[in-house]
Amino acid sequence: MENKLNLLAQLKKEKNAVILAHYYTDDDVQRAADYVGDSYFLSEKARDVKEKIIVMCGVSFMGESVKLLNPDKIVLLPDSEADCPMAHMASVEKIKEVREKYEDVAVVCYVNSTAELKAHSDVCVTSANALKIVKNLPNKNIFFIPDKNLAHYVSTKVPDKNFIFNNGHCYIHNSVTIDEVKNTKEKYPEAEILVHPECQKEIVEMADYIGSTSGIIKYASESLAQEFIICTEEGVIYELKEKNPNKKFYLPKENFKCIGMKKITLDKIIKALETNEPQVHLKKELIKEANKPLENMLKMAK
Ligand code: 13P
Ligand code: SF4
Repeated sequence: MENKLNLLAQLKKEKNAVILAHYYTDDDVQRAADYVGDSYFLSEKARDVKEKIIVMCGVSFMGESVKLLNPDKIVLLPDSEADCPMAHMASVEKIKEVREKYEDVAVVCYVNSTAELKAHSDVCVTSANALKIVKNLPNKNIFFIPDKNLAHYVSTKVPDKNFIFNNGHCYIHNSVTIDEVKNTKEKYPEAEILVHPECQKEIVEMADYIGSTSGIIKYASESLAQEFIICTEEGVIYELKEKNPNKKFYLPKENFKCIGMKKITLDKIIKALETNEPQVHLKKELIKEANKPLENMLKMAK
C-alpha cells in the first residue's frame, strides 16, 4: 500500500495530475485521493483545480462531468467500464415529448445521467442542491430525470410545483427495505437513521436526517448521538470513521456496494497515470450543449 501511494505521489508530480474520488470508492482509493467528496463538491473541484490531468475515481457520468467542465484537460477514468446504471434510465425522446406537452417546463437533470441527457436538460442538480435549485426555478412544471426517488423527495418539499416523474432509480439505494431498516433499529434502538434521498419514500419517511453523502457525514459528525444507521452505499463509512472514531455506524443490509464505484483500484489509477488511458472523450458539440446545465447548477447552487 505505502509503495503504491509513493508511486502515485511521484506520478502525480511528474504528470501534473490531481486525483478526485467519490465517497463510494474503496478506502484505499479515498486514501490516495487529493480530494474526496460528494457529487456537488467534486464538480466544483473539477472546475477549479489547476492541474493539467484530472483522474476521476468514480463512475462514468462523473468522468463526463469533469470533461464537460474542463474540455481542454486530460480526464482519466481509471476503469472505463465503471458505470452507474441509473445514468441511462431516461430518454431524449421522452424529454422532447414532455417539452411539447408542457409550455412552462424545466427539465431538471440529476447529475447521475449521461452527457447526452444533460445536453437536452435545463439545469443539473445533485442530492446536495436539488431542493434549493428546484425551489428557485421560475417554471411551474418540473420534469425530473432520471431518479424517481430523489424527484419524489424534492416534490414533497416544493408542493407548489407540478412534478412529472421518470421511472429511473439506483439499484442499490432502491433495494433498501422497511424491514431491513426496522430490524437494524430494533438491534440498535439508540441509533439515528440517516438516509440518502435515492432510497424509496418509505425509507426516507423513517429518517432522522435526509441528505447527500457529505450531508450524512456532516450530520453524523455534528450530532450528539453516538450510533447511526447509514442508508447509503458503504464507502461513506471510511470518512465517517475517520471523522468520528468513537461513534458507531451500522448498515441496514449486507453487501451495500456500488459495483461501478468499486471497479476503481489503486493499480488502475497507477496504470492510468502511466499510460494516460483510459481518457474521457466527448464530441465538441455535445460538450457545448451538456456543459450549460452543469454551469447553471454551479451558479444556482451558490
Ligand atoms: P452524492 O451526490 O450524495 O455524493 O451521491 C452520489 C450518488 O451516486 C448517490 O448514489
Ligand atoms: Fe449510480 Fe447508485 Fe452507484 Fe450512485 S450508488 S453511482 S446512483 S449505481
